[in-house]
Amino acid sequence: MALYKQTIRDAQLKYKKVLMRVDFNCPIKDGVVSDDTRIRAALPTIEYLLEQNVALILCSHLGRPKGEKNPKYTLEPVAARLAELLPTRKVKFAADCLGEETASQVAELRFGEVLLLENVRYYAEEEKNDMVFASKLASYADLYVNDAFGTAHRAHASTCGVANLLPAYAGFLLEKEIRALDSVLSSPDHPFVAVVGGAKISDKLAVVENLLPKVDALLIGGGMANTLLAAQGHNMQSSLVEEGMLDWCKHLLALPDAGKLVLPVDVRAAATFAADAENTVVGVDAIPEGWQALDVGPATSALFAEKMTGAKTVFWNGPLGVFEFPAFAAGTFACAQAVADSGAFSVVGGGDSVAAINKSGLAYRIGHISTGGGASLEFLEGKTLPGVAALLDK
Ligand code: 3PG
Repeated sequence: MALYKQTIRDAQLKYKKVLMRVDFNCPIKDGVVSDDTRIRAALPTIEYLLEQNVALILCSHLGRPKGEKNPKYTLEPVAARLAELLPTRKVKFAADCLGEETASQVAELRFGEVLLLENVRYYAEEEKNDMVFASKLASYADLYVNDAFGTAHRAHASTCGVANLLPAYAGFLLEKEIRALDSVLSSPDHPFVAVVGGAKISDKLAVVENLLPKVDALLIGGGMANTLLAAQGHNMQSSLVEEGMLDWCKHLLALPDAGKLVLPVDVRAAATFAADAENTVVGVDAIPEGWQALDVGPATSALFAEKMTGAKTVFWNGPLGVFEFPAFAAGTFACAQAVADSGAFSVVGGGDSVAAINKSGLAYRIGHISTGGGASLEFLEGKTLPGVAALLDK
């Protein structure tokens, strides 16, 4: 399905000043970008715009500096990495997204050059979608491009406000993300199997409700499965169970579609919540007293892989265990392998699931890896993403 929004293919770009919102919220270690996936993902749009001889002003957030200028969240390392990825282009950095100095850097920017502005979240006005702040950003350019899919679920000044002040177009990454996720949601080839994990079922209930009628099987793992298992009457001992969600889980388990739900049959249980905790694989009815489930077990991984085999569409979001502890990452890695081996058109979204795919070296076997965690989730909940809604209609 097409994106019913104008894209940069629809825009008159030559010799224009373009303000582009990117999601360069990348992990930084010791002042260096440690994962440049999000920068690379925006390169097709950046290169296309530069080929049209625009003067390109990029803006982004990094982390959550909460309206304060905090060097921990500077985008300077990102500018350095972007310069390496664009060796034939001049990539400049503005130490503030506002101010006189920045205004003159913008004025002096030549066609074919790039200027990355400092973190827009250094100003509290960004997250408030403040129109005065938005108009200052808008004053830099003739038109606006949004390629920040990862931030499209935020109604902020640089994702929404500016789009109401300048002609606003989608970049190629935004277009690609919406196409892939929308094909999963609106017209999946069947059998369609979704795997949803993560710690809390309260974070995923809207996704589960929206996906259940559309899928042939919905496999649930991670901490969120504990609450469903508890609602079925299993004694989850000290596992994370959201008591307040038990009634909702009982309602879910009573729906006509509940037969599509596939829950863990075994878990890796641990004596405590710690990376080096004593642990063992047990059935869901045999968790030792006081222990807690921290990963799905091998029988569950085999069951999930079997369900994915022969599927035509597979969507995966969320880890199946406490992935940050190596002893409890096996279920998530097995899921990554099963998604890749399924032979289906596969879409993976969410930080830990994407990290597991990348760490396993399986990324090349996945149909689409989303750069958005929260954004892909909200899209799959059926919500309108404000950053997309604000763009010009086709
Ligand atoms: C993300 O990493 O999911 C996006 O960059 C959005 O970040 P946020 O959750 O801080 O708005």
